[in-house]
Amino acid sequence: MPDLDLDFVRAQFPAFSEPTLEGWAFFENAGGSYPAEATVRRLTDFYRETKVQPDHPFPVSRRAGALMDESYERIATCLNVAPDEVHFGPSTSMNTYVLAHALRPLLTEGDEIVVTNQDHEANSGVWRRWEATGITVREWRIDPETAHLDPRDLANLLNDRTRLVAFPHASNVVAEINPVAEIAAMAREAGAISIVDGVAAAPHGLPDVDQLGCDVYLFSAYKTYGPHQGVMVVRRELNERAENQGHYFNAHLSGKRLTPAGPDHAQVAAMSGIADYTDALYTRHFRTNLAADGRARRVHDLMRDHEVALMRPLLDYLAGRNDIRLIGPREAERRAPTISIVHERPGEALAADLSLHKVMAGGGHFYGRRVVEALGIDPEHGALRLSFLHYTSRQEIDQVIEALDRVL
Ligand SMILES: Cc1ncc(COP(=O)(O)O)c(C=O)c1O
Repeated sequence: MPDLDLDFVRAQFPAFSEPTLEGWAFFENAGGSYPAEATVRRLTDFYRETKVQPDHPFPVSRRAGALMDESYERIATCLNVAPDEVHFGPSTSMNTYVLAHALRPLLTEGDEIVVTNQDHEANSGVWRRWEATGITVREWRIDPETAHLDPRDLANLLNDRTRLVAFPHASNVVAEINPVAEIAAMAREAGAISIVDGVAAAPHGLPDVDQLGCDVYLFSAYKTYGPHQGVMVVRRELNERAENQGHYFNAHLSGKRLTPAGPDHAQVAAMSGIADYTDALYTRHFRTNLAADGRARRVHDLMRDHEVALMRPLLDYLAGRNDIRLIGPREAERRAPTISIVHERPGEALAADLSLHKVMAGGGHFYGRRVVEALGIDPEHGALRLSFLHYTSRQEIDQVIEALDRVL
């Protein structure tokens, strides 16, 4: 695997040449990443050149529709699924909300589901609400010390009435990478649908959803260098069984059944910016001309190596302090670079102090309130979260370590 060409990477993001951001180290990427130049260009081009209702029989309208279709095709290829299995909605929270309405009719009273207390609320509350409609909700719980979600505990919760298992690829607070393929296979074996929240994992490299074997995979494009959209892969067979949430006369159109809000044309078109950026990274680093899904896999590994190398000095530094509690694994290989720590001072106060050293970070529970509570942390006190991506530099890691030294 070649080393990531960081100068090339950073040249693909307008924020890194924005004078007002100069000197600021960005460590709030789990909240939202910088968009790639390709995303910004596609979005503004759409607004300038093709901002008309798509798919009417005049040229600019056809072009608008084609740009949107391109996004479904190219994002599907990156994720190794079919274009009609990709759905773009306003956000992941909205996508799970709609999905919960679409899937509830597949269950009958007395059926069971499994949710975790490691998830962001977006992949938790919508399923837990089914309890009021006669569904038994079982909670798959983390270890209160390590925050680890153990698949052996899931095995004890599954039975022949289990219909759905919702869990995170990685939590946006804990960041341990959960073994999705193993868990999805356990759910399938029990006859249950698997719903995976990939929001905190996808920014670190797009996954091969087919290989993961889950029925639904969700992530937020605005954390993955794209526009403010939620991406939802729903496998075809499940979409066919789900209840249509769109207009009745569109029930036969797979792409309209699960996104009743109607598409944001320009943002859907700008989704191709993620694929453009993935291709640009691939071409810069690899000689062989692989198909697009293979390119996405290589780029995933390229990003991952860089991120793991950057995590090590930060995790070593944190391990050397006895005044903080690190949430999630100490080993870089087991986690995403979303590093939450708890200190005697509230997370938000620490973040405010870090900003005096030109470090952008956040504090709180990050809507992972249940996981924070399960770890025995007062959610109002919260954690400080330092989250970075492959475009982060070693100098920025040093900057955050120096700033932490002064602030903690
Ligand atoms: C892990 C995780 N899941 C879900 C969400 C919700 O995503 P959205 O803002 O697109 O609704 C977030 C947002 O921060 C998140 O971090």
